[in-house]
Amino acid sequence: MNTAGESFRTIWLSPDDPAIVQIIDQRRLPHDFVIADLGTWRDGASAITNMAVRGAPLIGATAAWSLYLASIQSGGAAGPVIEAADKLMATRPTAVNLRWAIERMLGVMAKLSDHDDLIGRLRAEAQAICDEDVEISRGIGEHGLPLLEAIAKRKDGETVNVLTHCNAGSLATINWGTATAPVYLAQEKGIDVHVWVDETRPRNQGSQLTAWELAQNNVPHTLIVDNAGGHLMQHGMVDICITGTDRTTRSGDVANKIGTYLKALAAAANNIPFYVALPSTTIDWTIHDGLAEIPIEQRDPREVSHVYGRVGGNTVETLTVGSDTAISNYAFDVTPASLVTGLITECGVCEASEVGLAALFPDLARQAND
Ligand code: MRU
Repeated sequence: MNTAGESFRTIWLSPDDPAIVQIIDQRRLPHDFVIADLGTWRDGASAITNMAVRGAPLIGATAAWSLYLASIQSGGAAGPVIEAADKLMATRPTAVNLRWAIERMLGVMAKLSDHDDLIGRLRAEAQAICDEDVEISRGIGEHGLPLLEAIAKRKDGETVNVLTHCNAGSLATINWGTATAPVYLAQEKGIDVHVWVDETRPRNQGSQLTAWELAQNNVPHTLIVDNAGGHLMQHGMVDICITGTDRTTRSGDVANKIGTYLKALAAAANNIPFYVALPSTTIDWTIHDGLAEIPIEQRDPREVSHVYGRVGGNTVETLTVGSDTAISNYAFDVTPASLVTGLITECGVCEASEVGLAALFPDLARQAND
């Protein structure tokens, strides 16, 4: 991801101090680009809970680095790291990458003997998780690109209009993003691509993050309110929807930011392809039925009752509802596989089904059956 001409990942080990992990504080975007230091595993846990970092792959990576920090704090003793893992597991419930990354780190620990360098091994594993995620996102881009190329060809080079929801971009991963990776590659290839960016209430990941990162990378885009997508689709202004997912069941149901399901319904009603881009780390092979089995996070009602905005040089919070109104704040919804045209993964594009996923990831499917 580029910003001000510099290339950034979303999380990295400080070049000056190996006991500090650095993140982009996403709560401050788009107005301020602030790098924050994580010095303890609790800093990492808070960054996940308060959404300084967010997006399924980045949540997992932050948990991994937090366990590395816990090992420094414990002087290389395993017990406190395992306790930290328990607490980190509870920071956000829907994105399965959190569990995946923590289990991977604990798996490394389980293989170590007393004399092994716990701190060094956890550092190497957290770094590997991040490096692999970059490659995975790039792979998603390469497999998603032909979908955009085919539309460009069909439209004889006219603009390809992609609609996306929430932020499944570089900021949600380590780099490249999932839903945005095919877009970035299409742009590199000279395809005329334009993105409709859903605002994504209540936290506005679309207007504050996706729009920002597309602008930083010079991708033409237009911000729309969450309810505009159906209208655009009815008028032939959307060629393809691509979203991310926080958890995909083995049968291809996807949980993503609240509102994704409504976009999938509108896409189906208007014969517009609805694709979901995901790394294999987002597949939960232990469950089949997304509606029944994916835990849906409910967040602070304040995210609904208040909006953040810029006044002068300051960010201010404004109350938008009367005090007698009850509020619920469901953060995710589940789109059933039947509404998903296809899943774009690092290993290829498949049907949203158990057969489709198992064909792309036979080893993972087999392990889950054992
Ligand atoms: O609540 P958030 O901002 O963590 O939600 C993020 C999303 O819903 C993304 O679309 C999803 O994590 C996919 S990210 C590659």
